[in-house]
Amino acid sequence: MTNPIFDLSSKVVLVTGAGSGMGRAICEAMAESGAHVAPVDINGKAVKETADLISRYGGKVVPFTADAFDAADIKRVVDATVEELGTIDVMFAHAAIVDTTPARVHETTIEDWDRIVSAYLRGLLLWMKSTFPIMMKKRKGSFVTTAAGTALWPLPPVGNLHLATSYITGKTAGIMLTKLAARQYGEYGIRANVICPGYHRSLHHEANPAGLKEMEDFVLGVTPLKRVGVASDIKGLAIYLASEASSFVTGQVFVEDGGFMA
Ligand SMILES: NC(=O)c1ccc[n+]([C@@H]2O[C@H](COP(=O)([O-])OP(=O)(O)OC[C@H]3O[C@@H](n4cnc5c(N)ncnc54)[C@H](O)[C@@H]3O)[C@@H](O)[C@H]2O)c1
Repeated sequence: MTNPIFDLSSKVVLVTGAGSGMGRAICEAMAESGAHVAPVDINGKAVKETADLISRYGGKVVPFTADAFDAADIKRVVDATVEELGTIDVMFAHAAIVDTTPARVHETTIEDWDRIVSAYLRGLLLWMKSTFPIMMKKRKGSFVTTAAGTALWPLPPVGNLHLATSYITGKTAGIMLTKLAARQYGEYGIRANVICPGYHRSLHHEANPAGLKEMEDFVLGVTPLKRVGVASDIKGLAIYLASEASSFVTGQVFVEDGGFMA
């Protein structure tokens, strides 16, 4: 029998970046635990596939095709979720503007900085601004931001591949924004935590395969559990942070990386 502390029955969970990889796995974990889920993705076909996949668990599923970094889309999704599912109990701000093209500081263009860092942080702030008032009224809520292990530790170059300055900096700032939120909204019963995944092979790696083999060999070489992550590895942490199991946990950063950063 499952411990009821992990039960998410009748909870409403919104997940961005839900059309693939870990975002889809988070939706699945929520639905398996009894939640109603609003999956959000910029790719309409992908988010419909996620919705089809999780609708068999019995909770309501209301998918949205939307850009998680567009102010009008964010408002539309939040309003419609409340309209159709009644509230928002848990929010996974999982989507990112993922551009891992290697670029050192002097190689970073201002256009890319604005497109990746500024837009990412603006989106994260907007999700908080629009979901926190709903949670404040209930004096309860859980907000989970997906950052990245590399946002905590500036990985040395692998071969001649340097980390993408804009992407990493945006993720690190997102961690601080989430910690600040934990400080500011604890009195309203809102918890805010961060998941930092290590390397999980995913769509954006397949889209940009240069140096992938080198990167995977490097990761495997220093990962105690001797494999790279798969999307479903994030499920346990997602259920923990969404549920009563983490009722006294806020402002924390959880690394899920097979021990890479041990
Ligand atoms: N895969 C990794 O190794 C890794 C490591 C650390 C952190 N992350 C973080 O995990 C998240 C992505 O998870 P993944 O790698 O399993 O996913 P993925 O690359 O398999 O899929 C990303 C999904 O996000 C959607 N998406 C992209 N831009 C969007 C937008 N503007 N609005 C809404 N949806 C959008 C895509 O359509 C896709 O369905 C990102 O926050 C990324 O920074 C991934």
